Amino acid sequence: MKTLVLAVDPQKPDPKKITRAAALLAAGELVAFPTETVYGLGVNALDPQAIAKVYKAKERPQDNPLIVHVADQKDVRPLVKRVPAAAKLLMDNFWPGPLSIVFPKKDVVPDATTAGLDTVVIRMPSHPVALALIEAAGKPIAAPSANRSGRPSPTTAQHVLEDMNGRIACVVDAGHTQVGVESTVVDVRTKPVTILRLGGVSIELLRRVIGEVQFHGSGEHIRSPGMKYKHYAPKAKLILVEGKAVDVAASLRQLKRRYAKQGRVTVLKKEDLKPSALYDALRKFKKNEIVLVGSIPQTGSGRVVMDRLRKAASEIIRV
Ligand code: TXA
Ligand code: MG
Repeated sequence: MKTLVLAVDPQKPDPKKITRAAALLAAGELVAFPTETVYGLGVNALDPQAIAKVYKAKERPQDNPLIVHVADQKDVRPLVKRVPAAAKLLMDNFWPGPLSIVFPKKDVVPDATTAGLDTVVIRMPSHPVALALIEAAGKPIAAPSANRSGRPSPTTAQHVLEDMNGRIACVVDAGHTQVGVESTVVDVRTKPVTILRLGGVSIELLRRVIGEVQFHGSGEHIRSPGMKYKHYAPKAKLILVEGKAVDVAASLRQLKRRYAKQGRVTVLKKEDLKPSALYDALRKFKKNEIVLVGSIPQTGSGRVVMDRLRKAASEIIRV
């Protein structure tokens, strides 16, 4: 399959190109598109046969459900049994934007989309291209990140092509995404609300709207199936050093000397550790390289960056 690349203006996408991409979605094809977080691999969320293609193209484990994307809050109702008050509050405050919410699902949402769960995670992205495409398709669009399973999520159409060229019908290219990490996933059925995945909406912002939140780590009882898999892994060996700044700096110097004998060693810089730059940095290294990174303070967006680094690392050294 030849993957069609449709370049569009991120703010004012050409309606003809959007119509073309939407027609492919309606025909059950896979279309990658930008959201404000990362590029998604879009597919008609209500078509089980099309959904099966996503799992194949991504080499995604069958038990990892997909997020459904809508272009308007009112498009949630037909998909869910209830809209809890806490969900309404969150939608009013954070949509459109990088927050995904767990709902009890109606039968119209196929088991293929939710990996057999009786819940569906929904979000309304804020990217003009994503909104235009979902609207033109006239259907809810399931979209996992458009990377091969286990790889860092794509923040450019080039990243999508690295992983998906020849496997998908089309990619809509609108340049670099703004946020750079995936959406925050929350479950409002618990008190306090549970964060299943850290992401574009920080804990501090969530607390301001909803009060206390609890964090669901990758403990024994896994509620968000995707969190148990290896994620965001660069091709290079990534070593994360965690501890007090002075100790981390000393350890990084020592490791750099030690690994220099074995090949190319790079220490990730502060600029690489902004959410919008992190996945570009992780994707740029080749197989036999060693990449060293020191921990950063876990406040604001530092928390999500540390979360992703821990999942991407092949070794974590605590000093
Ligand atoms: O920012 C994002 O969320 C991007 C863009 C494309 O919207 N999408 C994305 O999708 O990151 P994906 O498939 O890479 O991650 C979806 C996460 C996984 O951890 C999955 O397990 C979880 O959401 N998830 C999906 N449905 C769920 C459900 N019903 N219950 C609990 N977790 C769910
Ligand atoms: Mg993903």
